[in-house]
Amino acid sequence: MTENSTSKVVRGLKGVAAAETRISYVDFNGFLYYLGYNIDDLVGRVTYAEVAYLLVHKRLPNRQELERFKSELVSSMRLPDQIVDSIARSPIDSHPMDILRTEVSHLGLYDPDGEVFSKETNIRRATRLIAQVPVIVATIFRTRQNQPVLEPKDEFNLAQNFLYMFTGRMPEAAESNVLHRYMTLHADHGFNASTFAARVTASTNSDMYSAITSAIGTLKGPLHGGASEKVMDMLDDINLEQEIEEYIMGLLDDQKKIMGFGHRIYRAQDPRTKHLRGMVEDLCHRERTMRLFKKCFQIENIVYSRKKIYPNVDFYAAVTMDALGVPKEYFTPFFASSRISGWVAHVIEQYEDAVLLRPESKYVGGFNIPFVPMENR
Ligand SMILES: CC(C)(COP(=O)(O)OP(=O)(O)OC[C@H]1O[C@@H](n2cnc3c(N)ncnc32)[C@H](O)[C@@H]1OP(=O)(O)O)[C@@H](O)C(=O)NCCC(=O)NCCS
Repeated sequence: MTENSTSKVVRGLKGVAAAETRISYVDFNGFLYYLGYNIDDLVGRVTYAEVAYLLVHKRLPNRQELERFKSELVSSMRLPDQIVDSIARSPIDSHPMDILRTEVSHLGLYDPDGEVFSKETNIRRATRLIAQVPVIVATIFRTRQNQPVLEPKDEFNLAQNFLYMFTGRMPEAAESNVLHRYMTLHADHGFNASTFAARVTASTNSDMYSAITSAIGTLKGPLHGGASEKVMDMLDDINLEQEIEEYIMGLLDDQKKIMGFGHRIYRAQDPRTKHLRGMVEDLCHRERTMRLFKKCFQIENIVYSRKKIYPNVDFYAAVTMDALGVPKEYFTPFFASSRISGWVAHVIEQYEDAVLLRPESKYVGGFNIPFVPMENR
């Protein structure tokens, strides 16, 4: 039997560059760039809409372009009635991420651009998805709370509308500022698993909704975006400050992973962590946030001294979300509502690259095994 290829297996694709991208760069020394801009220079200085524009259009907008983009986003923040009805009919115990995955796929049936797949229509689709994914998340929450689904406000930007449509109250300036920064930090991150999943789907020339559905299903896993919900489970599990050390050491002794720690690429601190930690500190006037922050800080020190690994984006993101009043099962949906801008940018880039992403596998099974008819098995 001959081997098909001389390629060797790279377990988990560690260190493999699957394609070229201009969108973002994850530097293992602890830096992250969007289209060449260091995120440290963007966070707190741009709105999330500017970041979304940057990712999709590959340059920062001028004032006029931003105004036009913002009004396009707000006018896209209405869901077809069928989607709202379907959310209301989803099983009461289903996870919001499962509903989000289903409804993004469902949304593809009502695309006003139909089967036209030009660059122009893909940019329009991308813009609509950036606006509609947060609205699906807000609609799931409001429906489950038996609260009316709210219309977006024309004078609000995307992050403000997201908070308003989710919580039902006017967001304070400090809260929408935190959400802009959170969404900026979560907008893109190289060829992470969900982005890669989206690109694989797009590489077959399948439609953008299919690609984003793949991405959402991939983000959901606890080794990826699902980690922040698990971080909150852990913080909820630890009742007293005195129990922290024993709890964390116990997990490490049992060779368990501490959620919100470690990273495939970074060998230094995840550059997003310092921003999220700072955002949580800014919200520490809330007594609960202060308590959670102290727990997190202690866990960070214990894990570092024992394993020399750092917290990743999901660790302080959990407390940030909690401080904004977001229940833990909505943490990953908020992540998806931010990462959608990176996903659609990558899908468009993948269409332009026009190559099928199709790796090989190393077959380790047998050959020419004698066939046994059913009656003899
Ligand atoms: C993100 C993650 C999947 C990266 O995995 P990876 O690149 O395949 O790295 P590995 O899982 O092989 O880990 C390498 C080493 O670090 C340890 N490690 C990595 N993350 C760890 C964690 N969260 N807790 C404890 N140990 C961890 C591993 O046990 C392993 O140690 P060893 O060499 O002594 O066996 C992994 O760090 C993880 O599972 N983290 C927890 C989930 C999480 O927070 N995900 C969000 C990522 S942004």
